[in-house]
Amino acid sequence: SATQRNASGAGGCPFHGGDEPALAPDGCPVSPRAAAFDPFERPYQLDPAEALRWSREQEPVFYSPRLGYWVVSRYDDIKAIFRDNLTFSPSIALEKITPASREAQAVLESYDYGMNRTLVNEDEPAHMARRRELLEAFSPEALEAHAPVVRRLVREKLDAIIDRGRADLVAEMFWEVPLTVALHFLGVPEEDMEQLRRFSVAHTLNTWGRPSPEQQVEVAEGVGKFWQYSGEVLRKMQARPEGHGWMYDMIEKNRQKPDVVTDNYLHSMMMAIIVAAHETTALATANAFRQLLSRPEVWTDLCDNPALIPAAAEECLRHSGSVVAWRRIATRDAEVGGVTIPEGGKILMVTASANHDPAHFENPDELDIYRDNAVDHLTFGYGSHQCMGKNLGRMEMRIFLEEFTRRLPHLELEEQEFTFLPNTSFRGPEALWVRWDPAQNPERRDPAVRDAQRDFPVGAPSRQDIAREMVVAKVHAAAEGVLQLALEDPHGRRVPEWSPGSHVDLIVDDYVRKYSLCGETDDSYWLQVAVLREESGRGGSAWIHEHLKPGMPLRLRGPKNHFRLDETADRYVLIAGGIGITPIIAMADRLKRLGKPFELHYAGRSRSSMAFIERLERDHGDALRLYPKAEGARLDLAALLAEPRDGTLLYACGPERLLAALEAGTAQWPEGSLRVEHFTAEGALLDPGHEHAFEVELTDSELVVEVAADRTLLQALRAAGVDVPSDCEEGLCGSCQVEVVEGEIDHRDKVLTAAERAGQDRLMSCCSRAKGKKLVLAL
Ligand code: HEM
Ligand code: FES
Repeated sequence: SATQRNASGAGGCPFHGGDEPALAPDGCPVSPRAAAFDPFERPYQLDPAEALRWSREQEPVFYSPRLGYWVVSRYDDIKAIFRDNLTFSPSIALEKITPASREAQAVLESYDYGMNRTLVNEDEPAHMARRRELLEAFSPEALEAHAPVVRRLVREKLDAIIDRGRADLVAEMFWEVPLTVALHFLGVPEEDMEQLRRFSVAHTLNTWGRPSPEQQVEVAEGVGKFWQYSGEVLRKMQARPEGHGWMYDMIEKNRQKPDVVTDNYLHSMMMAIIVAAHETTALATANAFRQLLSRPEVWTDLCDNPALIPAAAEECLRHSGSVVAWRRIATRDAEVGGVTIPEGGKILMVTASANHDPAHFENPDELDIYRDNAVDHLTFGYGSHQCMGKNLGRMEMRIFLEEFTRRLPHLELEEQEFTFLPNTSFRGPEALWVRWDPAQNPERRDPAVRDAQRDFPVGAPSRQDIAREMVVAKVHAAAEGVLQLALEDPHGRRVPEWSPGSHVDLIVDDYVRKYSLCGETDDSYWLQVAVLREESGRGGSAWIHEHLKPGMPLRLRGPKNHFRLDETADRYVLIAGGIGITPIIAMADRLKRLGKPFELHYAGRSRSSMAFIERLERDHGDALRLYPKAEGARLDLAALLAEPRDGTLLYACGPERLLAALEAGTAQWPEGSLRVEHFTAEGALLDPGHEHAFEVELTDSELVVEVAADRTLLQALRAAGVDVPSDCEEGLCGSCQVEVVEGEIDHRDKVLTAAERAGQDRLMSCCSRAKGKKLVLAL
């Protein structure tokens, strides 16, 4: 058929041959791997991200005949689906993924089972009308009030086991605390908790599982009873309207606006939310403890530096989320990743796979609690349906981690086989056995440990807290005024992997400055940077030159890469001015290894002030051109750039003057030929006296947010609960980029090229603003 295209975008059916291949609904044969895919089999159940690695790499959108769904595995494709909930309706989000048998259907009917639309599976415009009515309970102030309850519950449970030395944390507290918190949040009276847990399991199997014909009946019994139970609780609550909690908000809205918050909605919501508000968090907590405890060195970092807990919890949500797949249905023929999904096509978005997509996350399979774009994960979904309870879930995970790292830092994971409830979407171990030596409990020596709690603000983790502790291993002069530092892990562990163009932020007191990594990328134990002494700078570089000695501790963020080498070009021109050689040298090493032709132009004051000349001459002698000004040599940009060259990329780093000249000189080159990295942010920072307030309308989340004159757009978005990653927060790195749909932009960043600015379709939210009164953003 002509409607399906393969991943490379060429038209036509990608797969032919073999005998009698299975067919997709459009008549196109499916590939053998797609035909074999079954989410209820072991590989997906054990590790859904790993089970779809082949798909991310080769066939990111495929039809699964066994499931009857189109499976989508890449980050960008899934986000695009989440963005457009008119084309990709969420109406099937809670549909039974395995149709009920006739017997099971009869059982459900005997209970008058009528689960229908809630929030998560409601279409527009009904959904947004409801969601807006029900937002109040999720404001940071309202959520803050739940923290003491969470804290008390976790402590009680921990007190009960702390002298025991061994426990299954799932059975002891991971499901019960989130369930109790959920009921408290909802205002639902606490009743038979064990029964509610059994109901939740039945609901999960009924909605996302593949129960056998015999199990079907049993599951239907559980679900029917749960439906009845939800109705009874609802009636009890309606009879006591003075109660508090989110369900009471709904009961009140149902009374005021019965057409917006309808009766069936109330009953369906009651059942769905009891599960949504606790199972997700219970499983996420179990996953996080499993991942962190199986990496003792990471656990130790958290115990030593609890400020890292919010970042660690977020990274666990990315790496091993509790919701691993979510559903949509195409309301018309629509293209996703080059494949046309026909109208009525059901879609399984494997968010766990998106969260391991190397096109979006560096070293995606590594659990790196220092990762600064972990908040980009899709475990909470995205867009107008994005999880409303995300900040409550985060709060619970953080309090669990904070109490355990403080009171049981010597906790260890026992060797065990993990089991999972077989289903497509909710994932976490059914038991988690840990052990510790109670004689070592810190509170036995110092009782104050028990109550020395630390609280975290509601919301996404703050990047200020994400810092790695390192130690200076070597210091030596690389040139006049240039100090080369080798940094190592204090415990002798490997340093994180990095790619050419990466940098780290060195933190010296309240001075933070980015430095490109200039060591060799296969050096696994050192991170190396070169620091130029800047007399006119903010003082940090002078301090480093005067005081830094081997053995001293140093904090840094990263490595991260906003100056990535695109390895697909035919030829390269590398241009460095002065200390700008640092990222360029790593690129030269890499290109040599790849066998790609390149030239390297390096200008500076004099040979003695130009770092790495010896290493460059040794490793890149043929490609190297040196321009020491003191010797009268001059880099002739006009000549270098005169002829636009196809298939050639230019990478440059150096003084602003050089970069500006390069930008001007490459105006005739194909768009995107020049890639530069800036190190200073003149003009990017907020000047409240000269700013005006404006409004932003967010199309994906359907919100309107005010940006006051003394706030950045990024700050205003965060206050509204929209998580946007950021790094430099001064317009240098590109991490806070947001798509603009409408409105005139006042660009203040150094990231976008002139053509990108002229396009008026994106901005850096940490610094750029509206020229006029309003912008419309695709967020
Ligand atoms: C929606 C995950 C905790 C309430 C969702 C969605 C996901 C999700 C994947 C669908 C998003 C979409 O379609 O874009 C999670 C995870 C949690 C968590 C991983 C914990 C780690 C909670 C809690 C609550 C909650 C604690 C309640 C207090 C909701 C609600 C929606 C939702 C009301 C529907 C929002 C809408 O459709 O407008 N959640 N959730 N969640 N979640 Fe959560
Ligand atoms: Fe770096 Fe905005 S956070 S450009």
